[in-house]
Amino acid sequence: MADKKPPIISAVGLSKVFRDFWNRPKANAVNDIDFEINEGEVVGLLGPNGSGKSTTVKMLLGLLYPTTGQLSVFGKSPRSVDIKKRIGYLPEESYLYKYLTAMETLDFFGSLFNLSKTERRNRSEQLLDMVGLSHVRRRRVGEFSKGMARRIGLAQAMINDPSLLILDEPTSGLDPLGCKEVKDLIMLLKKRGKTVLITSHLLSDVEDICDRVIILYGGKIRAEGPLNDLLTVTEASRITTPVLQPQITEKVLSILRENLAGEEFNIDHPRRTLEEFFLDVIDKAKADSVATSGVVNSGKIAQYLQQDDKSAAVLAGLTGEEEPVATVAEEDKAIKVKQEQEKIEQENIRIQELTSEPKAPKEPEEVEKDVSVAKKLSEANEKLKDLLGGK
Ligand SMILES: Nc1ncnc2c1ncn2[C@@H]1O[C@H](COP(=O)(O)OP(=O)(O)OP(=O)(O)O)[C@@H](O)[C@H]1O
Ligand SMILES: [Mg+2]
Repeated sequence: MADKKPPIISAVGLSKVFRDFWNRPKANAVNDIDFEINEGEVVGLLGPNGSGKSTTVKMLLGLLYPTTGQLSVFGKSPRSVDIKKRIGYLPEESYLYKYLTAMETLDFFGSLFNLSKTERRNRSEQLLDMVGLSHVRRRRVGEFSKGMARRIGLAQAMINDPSLLILDEPTSGLDPLGCKEVKDLIMLLKKRGKTVLITSHLLSDVEDICDRVIILYGGKIRAEGPLNDLLTVTEASRITTPVLQPQITEKVLSILRENLAGEEFNIDHPRRTLEEFFLDVIDKAKADSVATSGVVNSGKIAQYLQQDDKSAAVLAGLTGEEEPVATVAEEDKAIKVKQEQEKIEQENIRIQELTSEPKAPKEPEEVEKDVSVAKKLSEANEKLKDLLGGK
């Protein structure tokens, strides 16, 4: 029998009681829960406000001590220092140093993991590009909107290329495009064999990406399991076909009537989700080159986070060999220069649109016309001067 790999996270009888000044229990935030998270899983920790999600996450990170129970992460106590570099964490609240720029922020977090200067620069550039903040890399994060702060937080959580990502409400404050990008990114990280634990209120987001969910209420686990098991309605069947002609619909209905012995049934058209529709509208707007001054995302995943051979080479390069890094850096630079140019072009178009005077370049005829008008004006001026000067 093949040996089962030990879980990445294991909690047994885990509880957390917050106490007041007089040591009286104030809140039973987490109440005797057991759960495991295995390598490569994407697990959603769900529950209404105050159900104990963030408290559980903070215990996993060693930021809070459990009141009772056992908790292990990578087979060790969450307090153990040597597991920290294998974990990426996006906190629920913003904790950024508001006077640092986006680039400095990532550089700072990179330095906490002892990454070399080149490595920090490389990764920061790739991450900023990936989360759509390349163009504001020199702006202070204190000026960022909520969605922008969330994006830089996500980038920060990935600077150390962690094997376990713990993301507390990763999509909160993001627009639907941002949510989609974060979800795509999580799927990509899963493909790379990363383990991800996310907490969220946005059930549709969780449904799209999680293999399994744990639902908390009042600090207790109320439901748990793979999404497929929890969500498949086994009491009903659905057949989806190309649109049916009326006579075929009639035939199908008569067969169903014959066989369902009076049971109710219905035939309808499948519906797109609002998210699918919204993303479709935005894609079309992008294809029509509609200008925007909002977040601009290249749709690229940071090279060093990708699974292909090239990224393996980047990682190898970052840890010693120079050549592959130079190749990727050059590629990145070329893309960045192109993006900068496109941005400048877009800005120019916008400025032209915003200013009321037409700024189109003049035709040669118009220039000639201007010259002759100027000539006539100066002749008239001369005449006027003569007339006045004559006195
Ligand atoms: N530092 C603290 N001191 C006292 N009580 C706390 C503390 N942190 C959390 N709690 C309490 O623990 C319970 C669980 O809170 P927690 O933040 O874990 O919930 P949550 O599921 O993350 O909620 P949300 O969806 O609002 O983020 C709540 O009743 C909360 O008031
Ligand atoms: Mg919370």
